[in-house]
Amino acid sequence: MKRYIGIDLGTSSVKLVLVSEDGSIEKTVSRSYPISYPKDGWSEQNPEDWYIATIHGICELILDTDKSSIEGISFGGQMHGLVALDKDDNVIRPAILWNDGRTGKETEYLNEVIGKKALSDYTANIAFAGFTAPKILWLRENEPENFEKIEKIMLPKDYLAYMLSGAFATDYSDASGMLLLDVKNRCWSREMLKICGICENQLPRLYESYEKIGTLKKELANKLGLGQVSVIIGAGDNAGAAVGTGTVGNGACNISLGTSGTVFVSQDDFFVDNSNALHSFCHSNGKYHLMGCILSAASCNKWWAEDILGTSDFRSEESQCEKYMGENSVMFLPYLMGERSPHNDTDARGAFIGMRPSTSRKEMTLAVLEGVAFALRDCVEIAKAGGVNIKETKICGGGAKSPLWRKIMANVLGIPVIRPQIEEGPAYGGAILAMVGTGLYKTVEDATNALVKVKDITYPDPQLSKKYEEKYQLFKKLYPALKSVYKEF
Ligand code: XUL
Repeated sequence: MKRYIGIDLGTSSVKLVLVSEDGSIEKTVSRSYPISYPKDGWSEQNPEDWYIATIHGICELILDTDKSSIEGISFGGQMHGLVALDKDDNVIRPAILWNDGRTGKETEYLNEVIGKKALSDYTANIAFAGFTAPKILWLRENEPENFEKIEKIMLPKDYLAYMLSGAFATDYSDASGMLLLDVKNRCWSREMLKICGICENQLPRLYESYEKIGTLKKELANKLGLGQVSVIIGAGDNAGAAVGTGTVGNGACNISLGTSGTVFVSQDDFFVDNSNALHSFCHSNGKYHLMGCILSAASCNKWWAEDILGTSDFRSEESQCEKYMGENSVMFLPYLMGERSPHNDTDARGAFIGMRPSTSRKEMTLAVLEGVAFALRDCVEIAKAGGVNIKETKICGGGAKSPLWRKIMANVLGIPVIRPQIEEGPAYGGAILAMVGTGLYKTVEDATNALVKVKDITYPDPQLSKKYEEKYQLFKKLYPALKSVYKEF
């Protein structure tokens, strides 16, 4: 029996799965690490924390397993983060994460001075604050002494891959989110490197997500009691989750309710929407995808329940909420960390609106879940306007465990929401990519067809969908109404 390790390098924790060759999960391990918000809108993590948590996680994961059965390791990693190493491979400064909003000025420079048209021609995308290129510009301007020291620039999961294998590598799906990749032609964009003042040898070598980049470093393998385990580069967490949920055919959709919320649409052919409101990225099966990303999804629910209400019992907090569905007069804007898709506004912040003397805690809890669903609907609307027809969607991420949230999603979007049997999207996707990279399956599609099964489907209820349609039309008016006020906060 062969076994594979999938590693999801998330924002709150690293999740590891041990998967046997029949696709079943034998063991799951999770290790958390801190995130710091040194200033309003900033968000950083220490890459060494990721590495330590991952190594401890692997030790625990394989504790009672025949170690010689482990064939491959791969990853799904939080995207866009800037990890910079010096000539001795030391981390120069904490990683600046995907939900960090410090680069408002640099983003504006790229979009307005370099120009959206030029950016789209070079990379198939425009600049968003969380992308890596604006962070490089920020570093050059604000920490020139750190910028000068940069020998290697990499993404979060690439740091793990480098530490495990010694190979300086990335994959096309994750590299797409740097705003340095010519997505259409799957190569680094010379123009973008010039704009950022960096050269190609500071960037990792590019691979498809299912390609092998090397094997575990000998010393590390000895320490872990492992043999010649293949390291497969893996994917950005959303492309990884798409593999884990079987979202690989043309038009197939996956929604992830993690710290961020994403709408991911798989495309066989390269495609860019007119306004570049959706990201146009490489998929991990060698093809392409579109994606909208809201910066705060399950993190809104976590903030509301844990920090404000003081409970981590999400299920009982959500009980009795259902009776208010479609009738809730309270609305919530989920922009706790500013917003990426579609508003591209680092100043936006969260807001409740519509409270009355009779408003209950339950209605406010429901409003948080609904607000996230409406914000994701904003992304779906853009895909629709670009001619993409989404008939149904898979769902994954921590938030997908909530039956209430799945029901809200199905009714706000008006489409069936499908939960796969295995919910560990990016980690399971990582394990599947490891299977492909070590030759157990020929293609990603072959693997997902054989392995991904449906657990349940939540269908929309026409009457409830109609009520949510009216609510959504109201929700759509809120951000434009608040936009100018946000600037003064
Ligand atoms: C996608 C994005 C987030 C992170 C979360 O563009 O920024 O989904 O990948 O880990």
